[in-house]
Amino acid sequence: MTFPPTSTASLSAKAFHRPSKRVLFQFCPVYDAPMDASTFELMKSYLGFTQADAQNLVALKGDIDPILLGVTTRFYEILKAHKETRDVFADDAQIERQKRSFIKWLTELFCGDYGAAYFEQRTAIGRTHSDINLPQHFMIGAMDVVWQSLEEGITRADVTNGRAKLQSVHKLLMLELAVMLGTYKDSYSLVIRDRERLAVEEKLTRAEHLAQIGQLAASLAHEIKNPLAGISGAIQVIRDGLASNDSRIPILAEVLTQINRLDSTVKDLLVYARPKPPLMSPCCVNRILSRVLHVLEEEPAFENIRIERIRCDEDMEVIADPAQLEQLAFNLLLNAAQASSAGSMIRVDTKRLGRWVKLTIQDFGCGMESDTRDRAFEPFYTTKSKGTGLGLPICKRIIDANGGRIRLESTVNKGSKVIIELPAHIEESKGADPC
Ligand code: HEM
Ligand SMILES: Nc1ncnc2c1ncn2[C@@H]1O[C@H](COP(=O)(O)OP(=O)(O)OP(=O)(O)O)[C@@H](O)[C@H]1O
Ligand SMILES: [Mg+2]
Repeated sequence: MTFPPTSTASLSAKAFHRPSKRVLFQFCPVYDAPMDASTFELMKSYLGFTQADAQNLVALKGDIDPILLGVTTRFYEILKAHKETRDVFADDAQIERQKRSFIKWLTELFCGDYGAAYFEQRTAIGRTHSDINLPQHFMIGAMDVVWQSLEEGITRADVTNGRAKLQSVHKLLMLELAVMLGTYKDSYSLVIRDRERLAVEEKLTRAEHLAQIGQLAASLAHEIKNPLAGISGAIQVIRDGLASNDSRIPILAEVLTQINRLDSTVKDLLVYARPKPPLMSPCCVNRILSRVLHVLEEEPAFENIRIERIRCDEDMEVIADPAQLEQLAFNLLLNAAQASSAGSMIRVDTKRLGRWVKLTIQDFGCGMESDTRDRAFEPFYTTKSKGTGLGLPICKRIIDANGGRIRLESTVNKGSKVIIELPAHIEESKGADPC
């Protein structure tokens, strides 16, 4: 609803501009580049994996072949012993098939060529695991199981230069683990990026849709405004021409009431859809509240409602557009009263918090369901038979245009609290507490 003394409260024009796609995408997190063959080279250098290690691994081939089956059997026994890893497989037959792929993987550890092709092939294996949603902590454990078995087998085989060769095996397994975990990271990043893109796109579609509705509503409102004023004037002329005891006078009075209601809705639409930039000046929140409360005394919703004011005598100066603040207080206080039952109380508190002035309007009325709370700032969202659903969206625009913050707290059947923070007017000589 529009505050009567300032029918077209001004709002920032910027507030009605469509959000640009470029600006929204800027807020998406920046992801690391996906792992590639050059990252693999970097990891090799970081682990100190050299050509000497490659040679050590090739030299182990003959000693390794006899133990590959034992390493594989142990690996899958451990996977089968734990429900979380066992359930990843459809049945024992799949495990048996899997063992062949695993032995191939083990054999390739000792191939001696750890270039780009090796990396690509290992990445494909890694992806298989992230695709089946195998939690990555199992991968870390699994790599250690492989290490323990290989270390045991190689030690028992008593190979020449065993220590150095074991170190080479360990380095390669660490490289394998890095690739495995890298594929997890890459697939998580893709999932997150897709989800975020979807959310941003949904937001944009919604914002564009609302902007279109807003434009349409504004043109309609503009078209309705003048004829409405003409109709109202004509009815008043007819009414003034009737004798004071004419039985049609109450009918005309009702027509005028309805015209006023339409007029107020049209003004709300125009305020919302054609916001004007705020005319900022130092203004006292408590004085504005007193003025608005005085006007609202006449509203039927305020009958039998007690207003409790806290710190209302203090000088709470903010830098804002006073006409817009009146509009804001009017909409919020009216909502509070409409939600309250007779005999209820509305508490209005203002408080200085460092560089901010905090205004709280609290009612003890019907409160909001969580869906209403989530959608309350959406234009045209209303749960009232005679509401337009523009009160809170207008408040949000005013708050944004005046550099403030607004939030809602509400519990069904307990009441609601609207908390607003506006930049305090700080005289240079006085200084301010940092906040
Ligand atoms: C050192 C760790 C591991 C290695 C080296 C490894 C190796 C492999 C290989 C080579 C494949 C075949 C990939 C392909 O066909 O493209 C594979 C598939 C698979 N791995 Fe692993 N794996 C490891 C850990 C695990 C763990 C801990 C589980 C958990 C239960 C697991 C479950 C699977 C399953 C279910 C498949 C088959 C996916 C499918 O066929 O759709 N792996 N693994
Ligand atoms: N103090 C409150 N207590 C309970 N519900 C509230 C309160 N303030 C707002 N709401 C809920 O939020 C909805 C949107 O409020 P908003 O002020 O935007 O529109 P409205 O009051 O329905 O219509 P109008 O355009 O006349 O203000 C309301 O319909 C109501 O459901
Ligand atoms: Mg309202």
